[in-house]
Amino acid sequence: MAQLWGGRFTKETDQLVYQFNASISFDQRFFREDIEGSIAHVVMLEKQGILTGEEKDAIVKGLTGIRQDVEEGRLAITDEYEDVHSFVEANLISRIGDAGKKLHTGRSRNDQVALDMKLYTRNQVVEIDDRLKELLQVLNKIMEENLHTYMPGFTHLQKAQPITLAHHMGAYFEMFKRDRGRMRDIYSRMNFSPLGSGALAGTTYPLDRYYTASLLGFEGPTDNSMDSVSDRDYVIELLSALSTIMMHLSRFSEEIIIWNCNEYGFVEIDDTYSTGSSIMPQKKNPDIAELVRSKTGRVYGALMAILTTMKGIPLAYNKDMQEDKEMTFDAIDTVKGCLQLFTGMMESMTFKKDRMETSAMMGFTNATDAADYLVKKGVPFRDAHSIIGRLVLYCIDKGSSIDALTIEELKQISAVFEEDVYREISLETCVEKRLTHGAPSAQIMKKQVEANAQYLKEGDWKHE
Ligand code: ARG
Repeated sequence: MAQLWGGRFTKETDQLVYQFNASISFDQRFFREDIEGSIAHVVMLEKQGILTGEEKDAIVKGLTGIRQDVEEGRLAITDEYEDVHSFVEANLISRIGDAGKKLHTGRSRNDQVALDMKLYTRNQVVEIDDRLKELLQVLNKIMEENLHTYMPGFTHLQKAQPITLAHHMGAYFEMFKRDRGRMRDIYSRMNFSPLGSGALAGTTYPLDRYYTASLLGFEGPTDNSMDSVSDRDYVIELLSALSTIMMHLSRFSEEIIIWNCNEYGFVEIDDTYSTGSSIMPQKKNPDIAELVRSKTGRVYGALMAILTTMKGIPLAYNKDMQEDKEMTFDAIDTVKGCLQLFTGMMESMTFKKDRMETSAMMGFTNATDAADYLVKKGVPFRDAHSIIGRLVLYCIDKGSSIDALTIEELKQISAVFEEDVYREISLETCVEKRLTHGAPSAQIMKKQVEANAQYLKEGDWKHE
């Protein structure tokens, strides 16, 4: 057991207590951030005259050596240390001797862990944003290639009105674009450094918090030392945004699963993204989409866990906060994995355009347009709605579609129908006449695809 705080104790910690308390098994994940933060801290300590140049150089060299040795497999992070901070400090002292004991001057593990978690999370926000961008690129490509791929649009999972595949993909483009916006917001709100807040009440050493903040790429230092060491809002915001990403991915997965089923056959998931059955030779299952859909639960779980953990904690630091890590790491890994796999699945998927178009022609997706046709001929909309309702009933009885009826049959239900009705309620007209902003016609969607491409080119927010 290697602990940083043995001085006031007369007995050894119970082994089970030690294990229950230890965080090394999971906080070793941010050992690089721990070293990065420590280097910034000692560079500042020297600038402020708290350490000598030699001490600073020895510490920086020692810390860099530890990082290298861990990365290259010469030094293992083991559970003989309580947490990653103890691991780094103990190793530093054994490498460089007494100078190493000065690293923690004017610092507490409370501001240290707050910093490490922030640095780690901040990098992850950028990585998740990159993955979202990759997905958006794939979606916009599918959109570009399918401006004229007609398919039914649904409400209540009942065929409603015809749309295009580009339009449907475009809906998801908007969702993931907003998710990127959330990443950007979180980044800008969290980007303040807690380092130098001490245990809770700052310190009497003349630390330059602005300097360490700028060394670490933060916009500035946080403004209240008690808040600094006990704020986990940004973790909650991130988990909330990750939950929203998963909710979007899960809805999308659900649609892919439906589209991929034998009855729909709108898409075929590529062999490389499907799995088989051990007993039924004909099976090709959409496991990836199903797993993405199910993993949403664990990300929501992480959000609920940290919200609950934080709700009863008095200021400032309490050990409860150690529980912010494992589930957050799991949620981050889950979302990154799901985004990557989902993107690959979409990129390699085959869209069965004929099936989509045939489906769009069935199921009375042009019924609204048929009613609008009558309205244009002077019939009040409510009457038109009722006429077309009767027409649909007639078609259901006959097993036909509206546009397959003869003009005589149409005229029997309303004398207003003329030959031009066929053109006016064709699939093409139903889609291409929809010219309002955000509507599915190719004319409008083409502009949207261009705007999306422009956004993907320019919409990057860059950080060091
Ligand atoms: N492992 C701890 C955590 O994750 C580090 C901070 C310990 N601070 C303390 N006062 N015990 O929160």
